[in-house]
Amino acid sequence: MTTVTACTNPNLALIKYWGKKSGYCDIPATPSLSIALGGLTTTTTIHEAVEDTIELDGRMVTDVKIENWLQKVRAEYSIPPIAIRSENDFPTASGLASSASGFSALTLCIDGLFSLRLDQQKLCWLARQGSVSAARSMYGGFVSLDPRTMETDCVQLQNFDHWDLRVVVAVCDTHTKVTSSTEGMARTVETSPFYSSWLSKTDQDYEDCKLAVAQKNFARLSEIAELNCFRMHALMLSSQPPLLYWNQNSLAAIGAIRDLQTDGVPVFLTSDAGPQIKAICMPESLAQVRTVLDGTVGVKRTIVAEIGRGPVVYSD
Ligand code: PMV
Repeated sequence: MTTVTACTNPNLALIKYWGKKSGYCDIPATPSLSIALGGLTTTTTIHEAVEDTIELDGRMVTDVKIENWLQKVRAEYSIPPIAIRSENDFPTASGLASSASGFSALTLCIDGLFSLRLDQQKLCWLARQGSVSAARSMYGGFVSLDPRTMETDCVQLQNFDHWDLRVVVAVCDTHTKVTSSTEGMARTVETSPFYSSWLSKTDQDYEDCKLAVAQKNFARLSEIAELNCFRMHALMLSSQPPLLYWNQNSLAAIGAIRDLQTDGVPVFLTSDAGPQIKAICMPESLAQVRTVLDGTVGVKRTIVAEIGRGPVVYSD
């Protein structure tokens, strides 16, 4: 076996984590629940080389995050130098969780090329050393990452075909974000006067969301996921200096989704540490939601995703 390729999906948190457990860089403070974004793919290929090289979206780069991660991996496993080639078919580093799909794909490639044969929890743990949400991209469907259950903290709650939901990503800016999520959440933990309230509310949001997903209750899911998203952005804004990830185009997209809701269209929104706004709807509303967002001034383009099936790994 000379090369291994892994294809993974980014994931979208419906219940967010924002803040790590005190003293840890890889354990979230609160549980989160995500969906895999099928149709958006990171494809990563690795092979042995004389020195480590990284090619991202066709360009040779120096990537400190990946280099640091490789150091952590090598502290556990004997891994020789590797050449990494990775491509995203969606904008990199702009709130579309490319680091989640990137680190999950890289973890699977290393496991495959060097026959580590790690179990699923160990794979999740390794991916999480690069980006905490990367653990959730080790599965398709509906996934939870719950630090309260240490042994089995990242699990698939439901398979991709449990519930046919669609996501319309309104791309509101394609530039790299200013404040990384790692830096941003550290700032929030240190400075927000509301951080303890966030910690006390998220467990319940997570339990309610889990139930809404299990029961396929769209109205309830809309309510909880939007509330949790707005609470996270309020928390970000309450940091010092404030973290504002949205721009005027994001607000235009939020307004357009609000108008659809007023017209009775079953759709809700969520957004992460970036300007992109994601509308979640049932397949029958997809065309209408997409048309409205495509026609919203400031929305650069839309990308449609469905619930992803999870990683695929192959070797040559
Ligand atoms: O995976 P990280 O450590 O880069 O943080 C991701 C944070 C959010 O996307 C804002 C929320 C989440 O749970 O995915």
